[in-house]
Amino acid sequence: KHLKLIVTGGAGYIGSVCTARLLEAGHEVVVVDDLSTGHADAVPEGARFLEGDAADATAQLLGEGKAEFDGVLHFAAKSLVGESMQDPGKYWRGNVFTAIRLLDVLREHGVGRLVFSSTAATYGEPEQALIPETAPTRPTNTYGATKLAIDHAITSYAQAHGLAAVSLRYFNVAGAYGSYGERHTTETHLIPIVLQVATGDRARVQIYGDDYPTDDGTAIRDYIHVTDLADAHLLALTHARPGEHRIYNLGNGTGFSVRQVIETCREVTGHAIPAVVAPRRAGDPAILVASSEAAREELGWKPESTDLHGIVADAWRFTQERQQG
Ligand code: UFG
Repeated sequence: KHLKLIVTGGAGYIGSVCTARLLEAGHEVVVVDDLSTGHADAVPEGARFLEGDAADATAQLLGEGKAEFDGVLHFAAKSLVGESMQDPGKYWRGNVFTAIRLLDVLREHGVGRLVFSSTAATYGEPEQALIPETAPTRPTNTYGATKLAIDHAITSYAQAHGLAAVSLRYFNVAGAYGSYGERHTTETHLIPIVLQVATGDRARVQIYGDDYPTDDGTAIRDYIHVTDLADAHLLALTHARPGEHRIYNLGNGTGFSVRQVIETCREVTGHAIPAVVAPRRAGDPAILVASSEAAREELGWKPESTDLHGIVADAWRFTQERQQG
């Protein structure tokens, strides 16, 4: 069925890929983004674009009353872990306050469906090798705490007001789709940073800690291709049920160490990529790997691009195409 959707944060990395996939699936999309970290030229062609605060611009769209919207996908957020520790107010206001205002706008206008970008950072330091949705949520940083607070708010709105909601807890999103990929002004993510060494934009990569209790001493993460992640959003939209707030982890279920990622980038780019060991980054858990069994069983989700080499190759193609203009 053709859906009419609002995508907040659709000018950002994951929001733009998801918008592109939604449009391809035949849905109608209006992107709302304040361009604080997104880029206007990243909004996929075929989507209408309204610049503004996620809640205010959504209220404006719904107030136009031209057509009913079937749902909102709320990607817009501040997402830098380090910054969230230094300037927590920016995260509590920017993430939590905005999300509550958005929930009220949806309720006021009777929009019944919400898909929310949550994060593995809601779990903190895990107790198990594969993290299920039932794992304790003890975030070790303010970013994760704000996303967890929003998850709690969504649960109460769903129970009290009949919202059909799904939170997707992303692990390490990577790769690119066509002309949509990672273009953060402040880049903190491992794969784009390593690729900046290959393009010559950075001299070397720093390995944040090689004394973790892992085989090669570097931290292990679960890298998931952004198109697989986007496809889970389409499934979440169709599986959302009124009065329910479902939460799903999204990862490949396989962990790769920082050293393995750097080695894969060397293979893909053919560049030597010098690496030096640096101190651990505060708040980084040793191992974060998802159990995505629930998403597989309940949403019928099946990640297709699970090979790290392929994920890095897509990111590298995107990086090179952008460099060539
Ligand atoms: N790393 C380095 N050098 C770098 C950058 C990263 O060694 O220059 C390491 C990190 O210490 C970490 C791993 O590479 O061990 C991955 O780091 P990223 O910053 O790419 O990703 P994180 O795992 O820290 O963060 C991701 C999401 C966050 C989310 C977090 C926890 O990007 O939004 O997972 O779920 F909060």
